[in-house]
Amino acid sequence: MALTEAVVREALKKVKFPGLSRDIVSFGFVRGVRVDGGSVEVEIVMTTANQSAGEAVERDARTALEALPGVTSVKLDCKVQAPQAPQAATPPRTALPGVRYKVAVASGKGGVGKSTVAANLALALLREGAAVGLLDADIYGPSQQMMMGCTDKPRVSPEEKILPVDGNGVKVMSLGFLMDPDQPVIWRGPMVMKALQQFIEDVEWGTLDYLIVDLPPGTGDAQLTMTQQVPLDGAVIVTTPQDVALIDARKGLAMFQKVNVPVLGVIENMSAFVCPHCGNRSEIFKHGGGRRTAEQLGVPFLGDIPIDPEIVVGGDVGTPIVVSHPDSAAAEAFRALAIAVRRQIERA
Ligand SMILES: Nc1ncnc2c1ncn2[C@@H]1O[C@H](COP(=O)(O)OP(=O)(O)OP(=O)(O)O)[C@@H](O)[C@H]1O
Ligand SMILES: [Mg+2]
Repeated sequence: MALTEAVVREALKKVKFPGLSRDIVSFGFVRGVRVDGGSVEVEIVMTTANQSAGEAVERDARTALEALPGVTSVKLDCKVQAPQAPQAATPPRTALPGVRYKVAVASGKGGVGKSTVAANLALALLREGAAVGLLDADIYGPSQQMMMGCTDKPRVSPEEKILPVDGNGVKVMSLGFLMDPDQPVIWRGPMVMKALQQFIEDVEWGTLDYLIVDLPPGTGDAQLTMTQQVPLDGAVIVTTPQDVALIDARKGLAMFQKVNVPVLGVIENMSAFVCPHCGNRSEIFKHGGGRRTAEQLGVPFLGDIPIDPEIVVGGDVGTPIVVSHPDSAAAEAFRALAIAVRRQIERA
Protein backbone atom coordinates (compact mmCIF):
# COMPACT_ATOMS: atom_id res chain seq x y z
CA MET A 1 0.00 0.00 0.00
CA ALA A 2 1.42 3.37 -1.04
CA LEU A 3 2.10 5.88 1.67
CA THR A 4 -0.36 8.71 1.11
CA GLU A 5 -1.85 11.51 3.13
CA ALA A 6 -5.05 9.47 3.48
CA VAL A 7 -3.12 6.52 4.90
CA VAL A 8 -1.47 8.82 7.43
CA ARG A 9 -4.80 10.35 8.48
CA GLU A 10 -6.30 6.90 8.82
CA ALA A 11 -3.44 5.89 11.13
CA LEU A 12 -3.94 9.03 13.21
CA LYS A 13 -7.60 8.12 13.71
CA LYS A 14 -6.37 5.39 16.04
CA VAL A 15 -4.90 8.01 18.36
CA LYS A 16 -7.46 8.85 21.02
CA PHE A 17 -7.43 11.94 23.16
CA PRO A 18 -6.58 10.68 26.68
CA GLY A 19 -9.69 9.76 28.61
CA LEU A 20 -12.00 10.13 25.64
CA SER A 21 -13.23 7.69 23.07
CA ARG A 22 -12.79 10.25 20.29
CA ASP A 23 -9.70 10.45 18.14
CA ILE A 24 -7.57 13.46 17.33
CA VAL A 25 -8.65 13.55 13.67
CA SER A 26 -12.35 13.80 14.48
CA PHE A 27 -11.59 16.50 17.04
CA GLY A 28 -10.03 18.50 14.21
CA PHE A 29 -6.64 18.57 15.94
CA VAL A 30 -4.73 17.30 12.89
CA ARG A 31 -4.07 20.41 10.85
CA GLY A 32 -1.53 19.52 8.19
CA VAL A 33 -0.17 16.27 6.73
CA ARG A 34 2.69 16.05 4.22
CA VAL A 35 4.07 12.89 2.72
CA ASP A 36 7.26 12.90 0.69
CA GLY A 37 8.44 9.42 -0.17
CA GLY A 38 8.96 7.76 3.20
CA SER A 39 9.05 10.93 5.24
CA VAL A 40 5.92 12.12 6.99
CA GLU A 41 5.29 15.57 8.44
CA VAL A 42 2.24 16.21 10.60
CA GLU A 43 1.05 19.33 12.32
CA ILE A 44 -1.21 18.83 15.34
CA VAL A 45 -2.79 21.70 17.23
CA MET A 46 -4.70 20.81 20.37
CA THR A 47 -6.85 23.05 22.45
CA THR A 48 -6.58 21.84 26.00
CA ALA A 49 -5.39 23.06 29.36
CA ASN A 50 -3.99 19.62 30.03
CA GLN A 51 -0.32 19.72 29.02
CA SER A 52 0.28 16.04 29.77
CA ALA A 53 -2.57 15.03 27.47
CA GLY A 54 -0.74 16.89 24.71
CA GLU A 55 2.43 14.93 25.41
CA ALA A 56 0.53 11.64 25.40
CA VAL A 57 -1.03 12.47 22.03
CA GLU A 58 2.37 13.32 20.57
CA ARG A 59 3.83 10.04 21.79
CA ASP A 60 0.89 7.96 20.51
CA ALA A 61 0.85 9.74 17.17
CA ARG A 62 4.57 9.07 16.69
CA THR A 63 4.12 5.39 17.55
CA ALA A 64 1.20 5.08 15.12
CA LEU A 65 3.09 6.76 12.29
CA GLU A 66 6.35 4.90 12.80
CA ALA A 67 4.43 1.62 12.61
CA LEU A 68 3.23 2.42 9.08
CA PRO A 69 4.94 0.42 6.34
CA GLY A 70 7.27 2.51 4.22
CA VAL A 71 7.79 5.28 6.76
CA THR A 72 11.42 6.28 7.08
CA SER A 73 11.11 9.47 9.09
CA VAL A 74 8.44 11.18 11.15
CA LYS A 75 8.38 14.89 11.91
CA LEU A 76 5.72 15.99 14.33
CA ASP A 77 4.84 19.56 15.07
CA CYS A 78 2.60 19.35 18.13
CA LYS A 79 1.22 22.48 19.69
CA VAL A 80 -0.96 22.76 22.75
CA GLN A 81 -3.08 25.88 22.87
CA ALA A 82 -4.56 26.99 26.13
CA PRO A 83 -8.26 27.46 25.65
CA GLN A 84 -9.55 30.96 25.90
CA ALA A 85 -11.43 31.77 29.04
CA PRO A 86 -15.14 31.72 28.40
CA GLN A 87 -16.58 35.17 28.20
CA ALA A 88 -18.95 36.18 30.92
CA ALA A 89 -21.77 37.13 28.68
CA THR A 90 -25.29 36.04 28.08
CA PRO A 91 -25.50 33.17 25.62
CA PRO A 92 -26.31 33.86 21.99
CA ARG A 93 -30.06 33.44 21.88
CA THR A 94 -29.94 32.80 18.17
CA ALA A 95 -28.28 29.40 18.60
CA LEU A 96 -30.46 26.32 18.12
CA PRO A 97 -32.91 28.05 15.80
CA GLY A 98 -35.09 24.94 15.38
CA VAL A 99 -35.68 24.57 19.12
CA ARG A 100 -38.50 26.57 20.60
CA TYR A 101 -37.80 26.26 24.34
CA LYS A 102 -34.49 25.33 25.96
CA VAL A 103 -35.07 24.37 29.59
CA ALA A 104 -32.36 23.39 32.08
CA VAL A 105 -32.92 21.08 35.03
CA ALA A 106 -30.52 22.03 37.80
CA SER A 107 -29.89 21.41 41.47
CA GLY A 108 -27.67 22.88 44.13
CA LYS A 109 -26.41 19.47 45.17
CA GLY A 110 -26.05 16.03 43.68
CA GLY A 111 -28.30 13.03 43.96
CA VAL A 112 -31.58 14.89 44.39
CA GLY A 113 -33.06 13.29 41.29
CA LYS A 114 -32.20 15.89 38.67
CA SER A 115 -31.60 13.36 35.89
CA THR A 116 -34.72 11.44 36.87
CA VAL A 117 -36.76 14.63 36.68
CA ALA A 118 -35.15 15.63 33.36
CA ALA A 119 -35.89 12.24 31.78
CA ASN A 120 -39.47 12.00 33.01
CA LEU A 121 -40.20 15.64 32.25
CA ALA A 122 -38.98 15.08 28.69
CA LEU A 123 -41.22 12.03 28.34
CA ALA A 124 -44.22 13.73 29.92
CA LEU A 125 -43.86 16.61 27.45
CA LEU A 126 -43.59 14.07 24.62
CA ARG A 127 -46.83 12.47 25.78
CA GLU A 128 -48.44 15.90 25.60
CA GLY A 129 -47.64 15.84 21.91
CA ALA A 130 -44.48 17.96 21.92
CA ALA A 131 -41.30 17.15 19.98
CA VAL A 132 -38.62 16.79 22.65
CA GLY A 133 -34.85 16.52 22.90
CA LEU A 134 -32.75 15.78 25.97
CA LEU A 135 -29.18 17.00 26.32
CA ASP A 136 -27.19 15.37 29.09
CA ALA A 137 -24.56 17.96 29.96
CA ASP A 138 -23.45 16.27 33.18
CA ILE A 139 -19.67 16.06 32.85
CA TYR A 140 -19.25 14.29 36.16
CA GLY A 141 -21.61 11.42 35.51
CA PRO A 142 -23.73 11.45 32.39
CA SER A 143 -26.66 9.12 33.00
CA GLN A 144 -29.29 9.80 30.36
CA GLN A 145 -27.95 7.15 28.01
CA MET A 146 -28.89 4.54 30.56
CA MET A 147 -32.01 6.22 31.93
CA MET A 148 -33.50 6.74 28.48
CA GLY A 149 -32.51 3.30 27.25
CA CYS A 150 -30.27 4.46 24.41
CA THR A 151 -28.57 1.45 22.89
CA ASP A 152 -27.34 3.15 19.69
CA LYS A 153 -24.40 5.49 19.36
CA PRO A 154 -24.90 8.82 17.63
CA ARG A 155 -24.25 8.78 13.89
CA VAL A 156 -22.96 11.55 11.67
CA SER A 157 -25.13 12.77 8.81
CA PRO A 158 -23.79 13.34 5.29
CA GLU A 159 -23.80 17.06 6.17
CA GLU A 160 -21.39 16.26 9.03
CA LYS A 161 -24.00 16.87 11.69
CA ILE A 162 -24.25 14.67 14.78
CA LEU A 163 -27.59 12.86 14.91
CA PRO A 164 -29.10 12.40 18.36
CA VAL A 165 -30.08 8.92 19.49
CA ASP A 166 -33.66 7.81 20.11
CA GLY A 167 -34.63 7.11 23.71
CA ASN A 168 -38.31 6.21 24.12
CA GLY A 169 -39.18 8.71 21.40
CA VAL A 170 -37.04 11.54 22.78
CA LYS A 171 -33.94 12.72 20.86
CA VAL A 172 -31.08 12.14 23.28
CA MET A 173 -27.56 13.52 23.15
CA SER A 174 -25.14 12.91 25.99
CA LEU A 175 -21.57 13.83 26.80
CA GLY A 176 -21.46 10.18 27.83
CA PHE A 177 -21.44 9.15 24.18
CA LEU A 178 -18.02 10.79 23.89
CA MET A 179 -16.56 9.39 27.06
CA ASP A 180 -14.74 6.14 27.32
CA PRO A 181 -16.50 4.22 30.11
CA ASP A 182 -13.25 2.50 31.07
CA GLN A 183 -11.35 5.71 31.58
CA PRO A 184 -11.64 8.12 34.47
CA VAL A 185 -12.92 11.56 33.56
CA ILE A 186 -9.78 13.62 33.22
CA TRP A 187 -11.11 16.34 31.04
CA ARG A 188 -11.38 19.74 32.51
CA GLY A 189 -13.53 22.76 31.89
CA PRO A 190 -12.14 23.89 28.53
CA MET A 191 -12.42 20.44 26.96
CA VAL A 192 -15.97 20.17 28.17
CA MET A 193 -16.79 23.57 26.82
CA LYS A 194 -15.54 22.51 23.41
CA ALA A 195 -17.62 19.34 23.53
CA LEU A 196 -20.66 21.19 24.76
CA GLN A 197 -20.28 23.92 22.19
CA GLN A 198 -20.07 21.24 19.55
CA PHE A 199 -23.27 19.67 20.81
CA ILE A 200 -24.97 22.97 20.56
CA GLU A 201 -23.69 23.82 17.11
CA ASP A 202 -23.23 20.47 15.44
CA VAL A 203 -26.12 18.33 16.66
CA GLU A 204 -28.95 18.00 14.20
CA TRP A 205 -31.82 18.41 16.64
CA GLY A 206 -34.29 19.16 13.88
CA THR A 207 -37.42 21.00 14.92
CA LEU A 208 -38.11 20.67 18.63
CA ASP A 209 -40.65 22.19 20.95
CA TYR A 210 -38.45 21.51 23.98
CA LEU A 211 -34.83 20.75 24.63
CA ILE A 212 -34.37 19.64 28.22
CA VAL A 213 -30.82 20.08 29.51
CA ASP A 214 -29.63 17.94 32.42
CA LEU A 215 -26.93 20.06 34.08
CA PRO A 216 -24.18 18.76 36.34
CA PRO A 217 -25.02 19.11 40.05
CA GLY A 218 -23.89 22.20 41.88
CA THR A 219 -23.73 25.89 41.25
CA GLY A 220 -20.00 26.45 40.79
CA ASP A 221 -18.05 27.89 37.90
CA ALA A 222 -18.47 24.85 35.68
CA GLN A 223 -22.23 25.06 35.91
CA LEU A 224 -22.23 28.79 35.46
CA THR A 225 -20.16 28.50 32.31
CA MET A 226 -22.51 25.86 30.97
CA THR A 227 -25.51 28.04 31.50
CA GLN A 228 -23.66 30.59 29.38
CA GLN A 229 -22.96 28.09 26.61
CA VAL A 230 -26.51 26.87 26.19
CA PRO A 231 -28.94 29.60 25.17
CA LEU A 232 -31.48 28.74 27.87
CA ASP A 233 -35.02 30.06 27.99
CA GLY A 234 -35.67 28.89 31.53
CA ALA A 235 -34.54 26.65 34.35
CA VAL A 236 -36.19 24.30 36.81
CA ILE A 237 -34.54 23.78 40.19
CA VAL A 238 -34.93 20.36 41.78
CA THR A 239 -34.84 20.21 45.54
CA THR A 240 -35.70 17.76 48.33
CA PRO A 241 -37.94 18.34 51.33
CA GLN A 242 -35.20 18.93 53.91
CA ASP A 243 -34.69 22.43 55.28
CA VAL A 244 -31.02 22.55 54.24
CA ALA A 245 -32.08 22.28 50.61
CA LEU A 246 -33.18 25.90 50.70
CA ILE A 247 -29.59 27.10 50.84
CA ASP A 248 -28.67 25.10 47.74
CA ALA A 249 -31.76 26.21 45.87
CA ARG A 250 -30.93 29.81 46.66
CA LYS A 251 -27.47 29.35 45.12
CA GLY A 252 -29.09 27.86 42.04
CA LEU A 253 -31.40 30.83 41.69
CA ALA A 254 -28.48 33.25 42.06
CA MET A 255 -26.55 31.40 39.36
CA PHE A 256 -29.36 31.70 36.82
CA GLN A 257 -29.97 35.31 37.71
CA LYS A 258 -26.33 36.05 36.93
CA VAL A 259 -26.83 34.87 33.35
CA ASN A 260 -30.35 36.28 32.95
CA VAL A 261 -32.07 32.92 32.68
CA PRO A 262 -35.56 32.96 34.22
CA VAL A 263 -36.11 30.35 36.91
CA LEU A 264 -39.44 28.74 36.04
CA GLY A 265 -39.82 27.32 39.50
CA VAL A 266 -38.85 24.78 42.13
CA ILE A 267 -39.81 21.15 42.15
CA GLU A 268 -39.67 18.99 45.25
CA ASN A 269 -38.52 15.44 44.60
CA MET A 270 -38.72 12.45 46.93
CA SER A 271 -41.52 14.23 48.61
CA ALA A 272 -43.37 11.43 50.38
CA PHE A 273 -43.66 7.68 50.15
CA VAL A 274 -46.98 6.37 48.92
CA CYS A 275 -47.33 2.73 50.00
CA PRO A 276 -47.98 0.64 46.89
CA HIS A 277 -50.12 -1.75 48.95
CA CYS A 278 -52.34 0.45 51.07
CA GLY A 279 -51.93 3.82 49.35
CA ASN A 280 -50.96 5.42 52.65
CA ARG A 281 -48.70 8.49 52.40
CA SER A 282 -45.61 8.65 54.67
CA GLU A 283 -43.61 11.83 54.76
CA ILE A 284 -40.18 10.36 55.26
CA PHE A 285 -38.21 13.58 54.80
CA LYS A 286 -40.85 15.98 56.12
CA HIS A 287 -42.97 17.79 53.61
CA GLY A 288 -43.53 21.19 52.16
CA GLY A 289 -39.86 22.24 52.04
CA GLY A 290 -40.04 22.75 48.29
CA ARG A 291 -43.09 24.96 48.48
CA ARG A 292 -41.55 27.01 51.29
CA THR A 293 -38.29 27.28 49.34
CA ALA A 294 -40.15 28.53 46.28
CA GLU A 295 -42.06 31.06 48.38
CA GLN A 296 -38.91 32.35 50.02
CA LEU A 297 -37.13 32.67 46.69
CA GLY A 298 -40.14 34.31 45.12
CA VAL A 299 -40.43 31.77 42.28
CA PRO A 300 -43.33 29.45 41.42
CA PHE A 301 -43.67 26.03 43.07
CA LEU A 302 -44.08 23.52 40.26
CA GLY A 303 -45.15 20.49 42.27
CA ASP A 304 -43.81 17.48 44.09
CA ILE A 305 -42.81 13.98 43.03
CA PRO A 306 -43.35 11.13 45.49
CA ILE A 307 -40.76 8.50 46.35
CA ASP A 308 -41.43 5.37 44.32
CA PRO A 309 -39.09 2.36 44.07
CA GLU A 310 -40.29 1.92 40.47
CA ILE A 311 -38.53 5.20 39.63
CA VAL A 312 -35.22 3.58 40.48
CA VAL A 313 -36.05 0.46 38.47
CA GLY A 314 -37.24 2.52 35.50
CA GLY A 315 -34.04 4.56 35.49
CA ASP A 316 -31.88 1.46 35.64
CA VAL A 317 -33.58 -0.42 32.80
CA GLY A 318 -33.99 2.57 30.50
CA THR A 319 -37.77 2.91 30.74
CA PRO A 320 -38.59 5.86 33.00
CA ILE A 321 -41.72 5.62 35.14
CA VAL A 322 -43.80 7.93 32.92
CA VAL A 323 -43.54 5.17 30.29
CA SER A 324 -43.28 2.04 32.46
CA HIS A 325 -46.05 2.89 34.96
CA PRO A 326 -48.08 5.69 33.42
CA ASP A 327 -50.88 5.19 35.96
CA SER A 328 -48.68 5.60 39.04
CA ALA A 329 -48.88 8.63 41.31
CA ALA A 330 -45.29 9.54 40.35
CA ALA A 331 -46.07 9.48 36.60
CA GLU A 332 -49.12 11.62 37.28
CA ALA A 333 -46.90 14.06 39.20
CA PHE A 334 -44.46 14.27 36.28
CA ARG A 335 -47.32 14.99 33.88
CA ALA A 336 -48.52 17.77 36.18
CA LEU A 337 -44.94 19.08 36.23
CA ALA A 338 -44.84 19.11 32.43
CA ILE A 339 -48.01 21.17 32.35
CA ALA A 340 -46.65 23.57 34.98
CA VAL A 341 -43.38 23.98 33.06
CA ARG A 342 -45.25 24.64 29.83
CA ARG A 343 -47.39 27.26 31.52
CA GLN A 344 -44.36 29.01 33.02
CA ILE A 345 -42.21 28.95 29.90
CA GLU A 346 -44.96 30.34 27.74
CA ARG A 347 -45.17 33.18 30.21
CA ALA A 348 -41.39 33.73 30.59
N1 LIG B 1 -38.85 10.21 43.45
C1 LIG B 1 -37.96 9.23 43.54
N2 LIG B 1 -38.27 8.07 44.16
C2 LIG B 1 -37.35 7.08 44.28
N3 LIG B 1 -36.12 7.14 43.82
C3 LIG B 1 -35.74 8.25 43.19
C4 LIG B 1 -36.63 9.36 43.01
N4 LIG B 1 -35.96 10.34 42.34
C5 LIG B 1 -34.73 9.86 42.11
N5 LIG B 1 -34.59 8.62 42.61
C6 LIG B 1 -33.39 7.77 42.58
O1 LIG B 1 -32.35 8.47 43.24
C7 LIG B 1 -31.10 8.27 42.59
C8 LIG B 1 -30.50 9.58 42.19
O2 LIG B 1 -31.31 10.17 41.18
P1 LIG B 1 -30.70 10.93 39.94
O3 LIG B 1 -29.58 10.19 39.34
O4 LIG B 1 -31.83 11.32 39.07
O5 LIG B 1 -30.15 12.20 40.72
P2 LIG B 1 -29.23 13.38 40.19
O6 LIG B 1 -29.60 14.59 40.95
O7 LIG B 1 -29.28 13.44 38.71
O8 LIG B 1 -27.84 12.85 40.64
P3 LIG B 1 -26.41 13.43 40.19
O9 LIG B 1 -26.22 14.66 40.99
O10 LIG B 1 -25.49 12.32 40.55
O11 LIG B 1 -26.49 13.68 38.71
C9 LIG B 1 -31.39 7.35 41.42
O12 LIG B 1 -31.13 6.02 41.78
C10 LIG B 1 -32.88 7.53 41.18
O13 LIG B 1 -33.47 6.40 40.61
MG1 LIG C 1 -27.73 13.26 37.25
